[in-house]
Amino acid sequence: MISLDGKAIVVTGAGRGLGRAYAEAIAHRGGAVVVNDVDGGEAEAVVRGIVDAGGRAVASPASVIKPDETEQMVELCVREFGAIDGLVNNAGIYPHDFKEWEDRPEKIRAIVEVNVLGVIFSTNAAVRLMKRSGSGTVLNVSSGAHLGLAGNAIYGGTKGAVTSLTYTWALDLMSANIRVNAVSPIAVTRMKRSPTSEHVDPSRIAPLVVYLLSDEAGGMIGQVVRLTGKDLSIQQHPRVGRAIHRDKWSAEDIAEAFRATLGNHLERIGRERVPSPPIAAAPVPAGAPDVHLSVKDSNR
Ligand SMILES: NC(=O)c1ccc[n+]([C@@H]2O[C@H](COP(=O)([O-])OP(=O)(O)OC[C@H]3O[C@@H](n4cnc5c(N)ncnc54)[C@H](O)[C@@H]3O)[C@@H](O)[C@H]2O)c1
Repeated sequence: MISLDGKAIVVTGAGRGLGRAYAEAIAHRGGAVVVNDVDGGEAEAVVRGIVDAGGRAVASPASVIKPDETEQMVELCVREFGAIDGLVNNAGIYPHDFKEWEDRPEKIRAIVEVNVLGVIFSTNAAVRLMKRSGSGTVLNVSSGAHLGLAGNAIYGGTKGAVTSLTYTWALDLMSANIRVNAVSPIAVTRMKRSPTSEHVDPSRIAPLVVYLLSDEAGGMIGQVVRLTGKDLSIQQHPRVGRAIHRDKWSAEDIAEAFRATLGNHLERIGRERVPSPPIAAAPVPAGAPDVHLSVKDSNR
């Protein structure tokens, strides 16, 4: 049986929804949990439930958008439980009544602050302490929306940022023995009330978080793992396609390259993989130079 015995883990936004399920599952597997939520009353209630069931937990009412409060959140973990072994960057907000192109800047700013800056501030605070102790695990929370989902640009964009942070932090922290991964969940919560989530209870996603925090997942670094209740998958990393090489490119050369070759390889768009319309190519002017299709792998 996978155990989190002896591990101390901070879960942000754990007063309800998925974060609550993560905190309860971690405690059930022997981990000590800092249950963070800006809604402190909800965090306290989750702590009471964990303690009543014989687990170890303490509440933190920090807002992840405030760097000084994220410092206090991770310091609370060390003070109460002697260390910080894991951070689950779960706190997030979703704009339910979002009107694309028309929303107030403050509302847009709030989404970016919680979903992106909150993750950065919490991670910075935790990693400083993990580096001192020589190990740790950071688990971010992405979303299928980051793949491009109509009507979800701002939210999806924040999750794209989190996914990208995951890749780079994984590289940056590998040598410090700090593993960084992400989960891409789906569940019915306050955030996602729609029955299209197939009524997946948050508790169905929690085992993935337990696994990724555990020593069983010791080799897992830089991965985004998606669990939708029944389907478990690894999200593929974006990469640059094959390149056509020329020493120097004019706008006309580029147009010709798309007409001749690249136009046949346009990516499908977004999570639903909508086909890109064909390029409306202008007729090739007489005497236009040929593009030399020297293709090479490129990933920059
Ligand atoms: N529910 C889904 O299907 C789904 C899908 C993909 C990703 N996610 C992600 O999972 C995470 C949890 O989502 P959920 O569905 O449980 O949402 P939820 O609204 O039920 O819970 C989010 C929690 O975050 C807390 N929070 C908000 N701002 C905070 C702040 N500044 N500091 C601390 N806590 C704060 C809220 O008070 C709330 O308790 C989010 O990051 C979300 O984007 C959810």
